[in-house]
Amino acid sequence: MEVLQRVKNQIRDFLEVCSYEKTLHLLEQLATGKMLRSKLILKIAGESEDSIKLCAVVEMIHAASLLHDDVIDEADTRRGKPSINALYDNKTSIMFGDILYSRAFTELSQMDKKVAYHVSNAVTELSIGEMMDVDLTESFNSSYDKYFTMIYKKTASLIEASARSAAILVGLDDEKYANYGKNLGLAFQMIDDILDITQDSQTLGKPAMLDFVEGKVTIPYLYLYDRVDDKDYLKSLYKKKLNEVESNWIKESFKSTGALSDAIEEAKKVGLEAINSIKDEKNSIELINIMKAMIERDF
Ligand code: FPP
Ligand code: MG
Repeated sequence: MEVLQRVKNQIRDFLEVCSYEKTLHLLEQLATGKMLRSKLILKIAGESEDSIKLCAVVEMIHAASLLHDDVIDEADTRRGKPSINALYDNKTSIMFGDILYSRAFTELSQMDKKVAYHVSNAVTELSIGEMMDVDLTESFNSSYDKYFTMIYKKTASLIEASARSAAILVGLDDEKYANYGKNLGLAFQMIDDILDITQDSQTLGKPAMLDFVEGKVTIPYLYLYDRVDDKDYLKSLYKKKLNEVESNWIKESFKSTGALSDAIEEAKKVGLEAINSIKDEKNSIELINIMKAMIERDF
């Protein structure tokens, strides 16, 4: 059986313990994503009963966080499919998130102590990151540090904990793999922020340049704010549905200041840091390829 299918079956088995049919029906309606965290765990720890269980726990936590996030963001789609809050309502999305999350924690409590510590700690980070994200969209944020801390907590912390835990399971140097996971997570989020600007709405499956309208001052915009002469004009476009003149001004300024290309360079630098953390490890080739595939694409 394909290994990711084993992870999906494990999630189902973990939910069956609840003896509540509706949870299995809801599970079927969740759009499965790329399962990046599972792929990392399996590349690092190989395929075993323990690694499959760890994958299932992490995917359940990740899915729970997205079920809550879609309520917070009032999103009607997730991975191109209707979100659970759109198909049912907010209550269902929150309750199903709670069930996935608590079932994952019961299983986590039976695992290696260090794994349980790092994964549970990452969930606190995740939750703080989400709160920071919401708070940062209140008003124009020009602090690079605040943004970086937020994306580390919201996105990179669980990827870091996944890579570290996989290394712990098989007795590898967990600091190296944690650093790989952390930087992979940071680069992943930065690239996501860049694609919001460089890709068209068809490729994105949502309107292009949506982040700034939604109050998110991402890495490219932070660089732009630093460099642009008319800072007040840029600020005046914040959270505004842009007309063509305004969005062209932003695009032109991204070019003339080099803000966009430097943001791309920065994401690549972080990606290289991920690669450097594990390059001397035995099984590093595939991990390097995952990172390379992420940074060596058309922006
Ligand atoms: C997506 O961000 C959101 C996250 C990666 C984390 C959300 C975390 C929580 C809601 C707290 C944790 C809760 C539980 C139950 C474990 P986004 O909105 O920027 O990305 P999107 O475009 O994918 O929605
Ligand atoms: Mg969201």
